[in-house]
Parts: sequence; structure tokens; C-alpha cells
Amino acid sequence: METTTAVWAVFAAAAAVIYWFVWVMGAAEVKGKRAVDLKMGSITSDKVQDNYKQYWSFFRRPKETAGDSTNVPAFVDTFYNLVTDIYEWGWGQSFHFSPSIPNLSHRDATRIHEERAADLINARPGLKVLDVGCGVGGPMRAIASHSRANITGITINEYQVARARAHNRKAGLDSICDVVCGNFLSMPFSDASFDAAYSIEATCHAPKLQDVYREIYRVLKPGALYVSYEWVTTPLFRADNEEHVEIIHGIERGDALPGLRSHDEIAVIANEIGFEVLEEKDLAKPPAGPWWTRLKMGKIAYWRNHLLVSALTMLRIAPKGVVDVHEMLYETAGHLTRGGETGIFTPMHMILCRKPSTATNVAAADE
Ligand SMILES: C[S@@+](CC[C@H](N)C(=O)[O-])C[C@H]1O[C@@H](n2cnc3c(N)ncnc32)[C@H](O)[C@@H]1O
Repeated sequence: METTTAVWAVFAAAAAVIYWFVWVMGAAEVKGKRAVDLKMGSITSDKVQDNYKQYWSFFRRPKETAGDSTNVPAFVDTFYNLVTDIYEWGWGQSFHFSPSIPNLSHRDATRIHEERAADLINARPGLKVLDVGCGVGGPMRAIASHSRANITGITINEYQVARARAHNRKAGLDSICDVVCGNFLSMPFSDASFDAAYSIEATCHAPKLQDVYREIYRVLKPGALYVSYEWVTTPLFRADNEEHVEIIHGIERGDALPGLRSHDEIAVIANEIGFEVLEEKDLAKPPAGPWWTRLKMGKIAYWRNHLLVSALTMLRIAPKGVVDVHEMLYETAGHLTRGGETGIFTPMHMILCRKPSTATNVAAADE
């Protein structure tokens, strides 16, 4: 009798631990994804590991991919197939950083950073706004709720389109938020069709910033505002410092970047295209709280999650290759943290531009 009771007690405890480990601890931070739902985007489960290997060999030496830039969007698409579910599970629906704010949750700090972009472009009801590189639409929904503007997002990744649309419906925002699949280097929108635009940590994936800024310029109406949060190296970066170079390479290869730009290139390129630059600022600079603490605090979570994804892969609930992707993201988190701590990198170099009200639709660089 006592043995049977003990066996049942052990059994119940084990079931509770497994439930807690997979369903509770593995739950998405901001709804949507649990560890047991990791699918790896549109890639069939037998191809995940191969896709990961192809991605890794392409981005291993990021600067060198610049010579092979026509393939970058396809590999960026592969990257987001591999990471979108993991990001949603571990991070939430907004795939960007924000300055930490004392006594506020990451979720609130994220929303404030997004609303800042909305306010900079004066988003308001009835305005047609473009979200360039929209992810699964976390910023889009925050900005639409804050401003009641109509927002169209574009992402290269088909799987993100489905996720974003499902989230929009769930949030009751699908009447003012939509998402299309396409390449922001050649957008499926007419000339002068948007009243404003923003991009949050997305244009860093363009091999040449000129190409995406030229497209944004084309689809904006004369007089329209555009704000971007760019990933750049700061004035503290030294190209002859080995540690700096290793940190930046680590960020590039783990985030599908064809080569980070320097802070002083952004306004030059915007001007070259024909934009008037109204404001430029590194939003990570003090008094802003550090954006990387969220990654640092997440180290224990990374190890815990490593065990979880390994167990799910062994049980064939998650596809083979998820552990590799998780490992890559863990390493990248380390490089991002070092980038933040040394001050050589910022993911929030803000630039606010206007397409001149007298503009014809041709970008200056094309004239
Ligand atoms: C780091 S995520 C940021 C997403 C979103 N802005 C956010 O903050 O949640 C970068 C986004 O840029 C998109 N992207 C990258 N290259 C692209 C391209 N060539 N065309 C369209 N979207 C692209 C990715 O699909 C992804 O949605």
C-alpha cells in the first residue's frame, strides 16, 4: 500500500514538473507561442537543420556577403523562418530593443519606444502609414492603438505575415492594420501612396541602405515624414581593435546582417536620396537606461531553454536544428551585450527625415 502511494506520488510530481517545464515555463512572454509550438516558420521539419547550415555558411563572414548581395534577402527570409517562433516564445511580438526604464516592465518600455516613433511621424487617425520590415507586427499594433492611423506592414517572411495577421485579428486591429509579404528593396506599392513611414531595426538587413531608403522615398507622398531606428557602430568603435571587430562580426552573423554601417553614414545616405534630415540621435545614450540588460538577465533563461529545446528535440516535438538555432541566438545575445556594454554598438540610432514637399517622385540619387 505504502509502495503504491509512493509510486503515485513520484508519478504525480514528475507529471507536475513536466507540465510546469513545458507549458508554464515554456510559455511565451507575451502570448502566442509556447515551447511545444516551435515550428521554424515555413520550413518543413526535416529541412530545418539543412537550412540552418546554409544560413550559417552564408553569414559566417558577413562583410564578404556584400559582394553576393542579391542573395541576402533570401537568406534573411531563411533566418526569420528559423528564429520567428523562438523570438515570439522568448521575447514577445516586438522584435527590437528599447532603453530600460526604472520600475517599468520590458513590455511597457517596448511600447513607449514604439509610441515615440509614432509621435515623431505625427501618426494620427486616417493617415496611411508604412511599417518597413514589420516582423509579426508588435510595433504596428502598439502604434495603431496609440494613434489610430492605418498601418500597412511589409516583411520578406511569409510566415511572419500569417503570424502578424493572426495577432492583428486577435487584437481587434485588423481593420486598421494589414501586412503584405514582399522585399523592401522593391516594394509592391505605388509611387506617393503613403502619408508617413517608419522602420524599427529592420533596414539594417539591406545590403545597401540607399536601396531601401530610395524605395521608401518613392512610396511616400511629398512632405511625408519617415523615422528609422538603425543598427550602427558608434563613434567608440575602432576598426583596429580586435575585440571590437569580433563583437561586431558576432552581431552580424547571428542576426543576418550583411555588414553593420557606421553612425555617420546614415544621414549622408538619407540626404543623398533626397530626404531632408530633421533630427538624428542615438536613443541609447544616457540618460536612457541600458537596452541590453534584458539580454543579460536572460542568460539563466537561455540555459533553461537550452535544456527545454534539447528535450523537445529528443522527443521529436521540435524539429532537429532548433538546438543549433537556439545556441546561435545565445551566442549572439552575448555579442549584443558586449556591444552595449562597450558602447561600440547601438540598435537605436534614430533618424527622422522628410520627403521635401516640392519633391517630384524621383529620388535625388536617380536624377
Ligand atoms: C529585427 S526584425 C524587426 C521587426 C519589427 N520592426 C519589430 O520591431 O518587431 C526585422 C524585420 O525586417 C524584415 N526584413 C528584413 N529584410 C527585408 C527585406 N529585404 N524586405 C522586407 N522585409 C525585410 C524581416 O522579415 C523582419 O520582419
